[in-house]
Amino acid sequence: MTSEFVVHDAAGYEQLMGRWSKKLAPLFIEFVGVENGEKVLDVGCGTGSLTFALARAADVGEITAIDYSSVFVEEAIRRNTDPRVRIRQADACALPFEDGTFDRALALLVLHFVPEAGRAVAEMRRVVRPGGVVSAAVWDHLGGMPGMRMVVDTVAALSEDGRQLRARYCFQPMMQPGEMKRTFIEQGLVDVTETELMVRMDYHSFDDFWAPIAAGEGPLGKYVATLNVAERARTDAAVRDAYEAGRPDGPRSFANVAWACRGIVP
Ligand SMILES: C[S@@+](CC[C@H](N)C(=O)[O-])C[C@H]1O[C@@H](n2cnc3c(N)ncnc32)[C@H](O)[C@@H]1O
Repeated sequence: MTSEFVVHDAAGYEQLMGRWSKKLAPLFIEFVGVENGEKVLDVGCGTGSLTFALARAADVGEITAIDYSSVFVEEAIRRNTDPRVRIRQADACALPFEDGTFDRALALLVLHFVPEAGRAVAEMRRVVRPGGVVSAAVWDHLGGMPGMRMVVDTVAALSEDGRQLRARYCFQPMMQPGEMKRTFIEQGLVDVTETELMVRMDYHSFDDFWAPIAAGEGPLGKYVATLNVAERARTDAAVRDAYEAGRPDGPRSFANVAWACRGIVP
C-alpha cells in the first residue's frame, strides 16, 4: 500500500482542501525557489494547486505532475491549458523517470499520506540532478490545524473509535517536529532546511466547513461515513457546537501550519 489518501470526488476535494492548498502553494514555491527554464516534478499533484501555481511563478521549461489517483489525474488534465504541463498517473514510491531527470521535485501535502514516506523522498532524490532541490510540505495535524483538531477532539470525546481516529490523524507520517528533516537527511539530501508555512482557512458558515467532510471527503469524511444514523446526528451536532463556539453560525477563520522541508541533491 503506497497511498492512504481517500479519493472521493474532485469537486469535494476542492472544497475540503484544494481551495486552501491553492493559498499554500505560492508560500511553498517561495520557500523552494523555482527558476526560468527548469524542469520541475510535482509529486502527488491532486487537482493541480501546485502544478498551476508553478506554471505562473516562473517561465518554467517543463512541469511534470504525477498522482496516484486516476480521478485527480483526469481532473488536473481537464483543467490544464498550459503546453509546458504534462500530467500522468504514477506512484511517488516508484517514479517512472530516469535518474537526474529534473531540476526540482516538490510534494505539497502528500508525504503524510504515504506510509513509506522515506521511500518517496528517496525516489524524489533519485530523479533530481546533482545540485537540484527536493522539497515537501505536510500539515501539522497535531499542533497546527485547530479547525480539524476541533473535529477529531469532538469525535474522540464521543467514542473509542473516535479516539483511535484522532491518534491516527495526529500522527500521520512526517508531521512531528523535525521528522521530515531527519528523513531528508537519512535519504542523503544535504543543506536540509525546515520551516513553517501558515495559511488561514476562512469559512462562510458551518455548512461551508462541514459539507465536504459530511459527504465523505478526506480521512475525517471516511470516518464520519462509518457512523450509524444516531452517532452521525450526535457528531454533526457536537461539531456544529464546537464550530459555532457559543455564537450564531457564520464566518469563522482558522490558522493552519504546514511543515516544509528543502534539501539539495549532492
Ligand atoms: C491532500 S492531497 C494534495 C494534492 C495537491 N498536491 C494539493 O496540494 O492540493 C494528497 C495527494 O497525494 C496523492 N498521493 C498519495 N499517495 C501517493 C503516492 N504514493 N503516489 C502519488 N500520489 C500520492 C493523493 O492521490 C492526493 O492527490
